[in-house]
Amino acid sequence: MKLEFVSIVATFALFRSVFGVKRELFKTCEQNGFCHRNRHLANAISNKHGSYSSPYSVDETSIRISEEVSAIEGSIMKKLPNGKAVELPFTIEVLKSDNIRLTIDEKERSDPKSLRVADKRFKSRRFNEASKYALKGEPEISVNAKLTKESITDKSTGEKYLSIIYGDESEYEAQITLSPFKITVYYHGQPEIILNDRNFFNIEHWRTQDQQASELSPEETDYGTFKDEFKDSQGDHLPFGPESIGVDVSFIGYDKVFGIPEHADTFSLKDTTNDDPYRLFNVDIFEYETQSKFPMYGSIPFMVAQKKSATAGLFWINAADTYVDIKKGSPAQSNPDQIVLTSEKSTKTHWFSEAGILDLIIMVDKSPLAINKKYGELSGNPELPQLFTLGYHQCRWNYNDVDDVLDVSEKFDNFEIPYDVIWLDIEYTENKKYFTWKKGLFDDHVEMNKKLAETGRNLVAIIDPHIKTDYQVSNDIEKQGLGIKNSDNDDTYHGHCWPGESVWIDTFNPKSKAYWNKLFANNTDFSGDETNLHIWNDMSEPSVFSGPETTAPKDIVHYGGWEHRSVHNAYGLTFHEATYDAMSKRYVNKRPFILTRAYYAGSQRSAAMWSGDNKSKWEFLKISLPMALTSQVVGMPFTGSDVGGFFGDPSSELLTRWYQAGIWYPFFRGHAHIDSKRREPYIAGEPYTSIMRDAIRLRYSLLPVFYTGFHHASITNAPIITPLFYSNPENEDCYEIEDEFFVADSGLLVKPVTQEGATSVSIYIPDEKPYFDYHTHELIQGKGSHDLQAELEQIPILMQGGHIFSRKDRYRRSSKLMKYDPYTLVVALDEEGSAKGSLYIDDGETFDYKKDDDFVYVDFAIKDNKLQSSVNVGKQTPFTELLDKVKVEKIIIVGKDISFSSSAKVSQNGENWEAETIGINNNAFIIRNPAVAINKSWTIELN
Ligand code: NOJ
Repeated sequence: MKLEFVSIVATFALFRSVFGVKRELFKTCEQNGFCHRNRHLANAISNKHGSYSSPYSVDETSIRISEEVSAIEGSIMKKLPNGKAVELPFTIEVLKSDNIRLTIDEKERSDPKSLRVADKRFKSRRFNEASKYALKGEPEISVNAKLTKESITDKSTGEKYLSIIYGDESEYEAQITLSPFKITVYYHGQPEIILNDRNFFNIEHWRTQDQQASELSPEETDYGTFKDEFKDSQGDHLPFGPESIGVDVSFIGYDKVFGIPEHADTFSLKDTTNDDPYRLFNVDIFEYETQSKFPMYGSIPFMVAQKKSATAGLFWINAADTYVDIKKGSPAQSNPDQIVLTSEKSTKTHWFSEAGILDLIIMVDKSPLAINKKYGELSGNPELPQLFTLGYHQCRWNYNDVDDVLDVSEKFDNFEIPYDVIWLDIEYTENKKYFTWKKGLFDDHVEMNKKLAETGRNLVAIIDPHIKTDYQVSNDIEKQGLGIKNSDNDDTYHGHCWPGESVWIDTFNPKSKAYWNKLFANNTDFSGDETNLHIWNDMSEPSVFSGPETTAPKDIVHYGGWEHRSVHNAYGLTFHEATYDAMSKRYVNKRPFILTRAYYAGSQRSAAMWSGDNKSKWEFLKISLPMALTSQVVGMPFTGSDVGGFFGDPSSELLTRWYQAGIWYPFFRGHAHIDSKRREPYIAGEPYTSIMRDAIRLRYSLLPVFYTGFHHASITNAPIITPLFYSNPENEDCYEIEDEFFVADSGLLVKPVTQEGATSVSIYIPDEKPYFDYHTHELIQGKGSHDLQAELEQIPILMQGGHIFSRKDRYRRSSKLMKYDPYTLVVALDEEGSAKGSLYIDDGETFDYKKDDDFVYVDFAIKDNKLQSSVNVGKQTPFTELLDKVKVEKIIIVGKDISFSSSAKVSQNGENWEAETIGINNNAFIIRNPAVAINKSWTIELN
């Protein structure tokens, strides 16, 4: 056994570096028991063309309706072929912000007394805590829902249903059909979402192997119910037998659906009829392929559907292995499997998870931004990061020692390329023992970090969840029972990862979290009194080289007796939350920066994420854009891909284009595999180095735009890079656009070059507003495609008329050194000569903006030739006072017919003066040094 195990690990380690993705390591849907069964059931039901009779009905006598808590409770009964019935208690609640939440449990497993047989090693109930991680807290209940007192009979169909009317203007209705169980959500009288429209609803109830034959319906199969048939299942003993949950969800009139990351696939999700479903199962998928529904490192089970008149969202709160099938098309009346409620095109989805309770939230609203906001209210908005985290990050596996780190840092300065963070990968440790520093190479790490801090720079070091056996940390974990347990729930689970044999910290356990806290405290081996060390949490799917599908066996056990099967997708989140917590104690009142590879719904509250091990190929540059856009839709906007590609060596052209695209990633980091050649931007030589430097400097000059965007995201969950349909939901032509985006709400429209040898791009303009070239200020107008020049040194960027944004144009070595630099305002006028914008400023590091209102928020507006800044100072503090010295040094105004030509009369603080103007230059009107302070309101009259 031991030998066999070693050889598996050795083989794995070998192909990790030699070959591409090993598909055979991962289960196909066909090979994954619960996927196989749920698809089988769905196909059998579809093939019955309407003659299938669902076994699931609400027991009318069980219904309890409460207006006070806007909830309906009761039981769904599942009729079994042997005449018995299984009770499935449900609740339907109307949440604040007009969302419907449905939960369905299984009585027998939720009541320990009535459990016939339980495997004592595990908690017997279905996992009902995914919402603890996916949601920021218990959601508030709506106060304006009207619930029917008793069931209503539909005159035309004879079906009985319950009705809930909700929304400020009673614009929503949810109808709960009793038999078969079904929920239809209406918005302004239109059906939007139907749950169990196709009768795929399925709760695999608890049964013994002996009972199974008499309890399976003819449409079901017993494939993989008590034995994992996958060749590399490594003895998963399925202690509860089959326990999956599933339901179909139809989006009526919605042609396009988005979300459910992580997949290296198109932005608009594809039909899966002739393919595997999209799988949500956090795995270490090295050398992943593009255009694939394969699972990746993270999972957010949230889907958004878009049509002209509305946006809908489905939040599937389950942390187990999950699949989503998607079927598109207009309803064909001949096929009863199709929706007949409307003649419009629709998208029909089918969701199923391997374990846990069924818990989902349905949202419908007028726009994508409104859905983002609703999701943020439930799951939490992304945390406002420190400003430096929006600068450039320089990483590679590995910088070898202190001298290497300082040498790279110095070279950036020599080439006048700004950067904010340098990263250390696993080799900085002593034999991959986290919380140690490699002797002889990183002895002076504290000094090194102090040197970096002198120029405002930061260091990020990697800490993974696998802990090498036989040293202090793993000994503590084993002794104190803080690791994930083996499937007998008696001893700590052992597996293999970078350090060889390892244990995994179980961050579901509060005691493990307390221990994790101590490891980061300032008095351990990992200490240093600097405040510029931050953490990278990698391999947290968890990646287990010796495990099935490169991850942990599903039947190992977590704190509280939960099987790994039920909590898998949330493990990475608990890990980076533990690190966040530890770092917030290490540096009091500093916003921690954690980068995670594995993520789940809710990760946005405490981490940034990147798309893992991509390749130095054009197709990976291309796919990074839809992947980043998807993250914006599902509330995890702080994301990016390894610039340059992780595996391989990019050509200088690819690297340059990647930097030009990467400056728009919310998280902007260059990274490379240990076998890749060095490729810091100063290495390529001219003209590449200068072009990359200019691109990075452009990012730095736009940091106020990104930071203001993150401020808005932290309040409303608005995207940082915004898909085109967000501002043009009525324009269906832009729904699928995945290679262009707006930058937050600045009106900057960007189309990065992702084509080898390109000298121009075709950019799609989604509306009739005037647009101006970012560099030449030339007017480009007209909905549709336009050609833009894109020689190697050119980044195609347009400015949409109607916006004002702020820049900081002076080159500094890091963002910290730009703190008190003056601003340049760019005003792009709309047809009426008007524009608006905003700017958010705080100390960029602490939580004082939250605790003490220590921030400044500026609204800019121009109308009738009067430019105005209205300042809201959260509170007068030493910092907001200091901003007195921060001035606007330049204002650039572009517009179609600029009527003013010479004078600019400035007023601020009761004083008036005339600012110097340069008239029209390069298609723009320029005001030189208006000298207004940024923290007080002002006006400028233009004539
Ligand atoms: C896998 C990560 O995805 C990659 O970025 C990192 O360099 C290696 N682990 C080594 O830590």
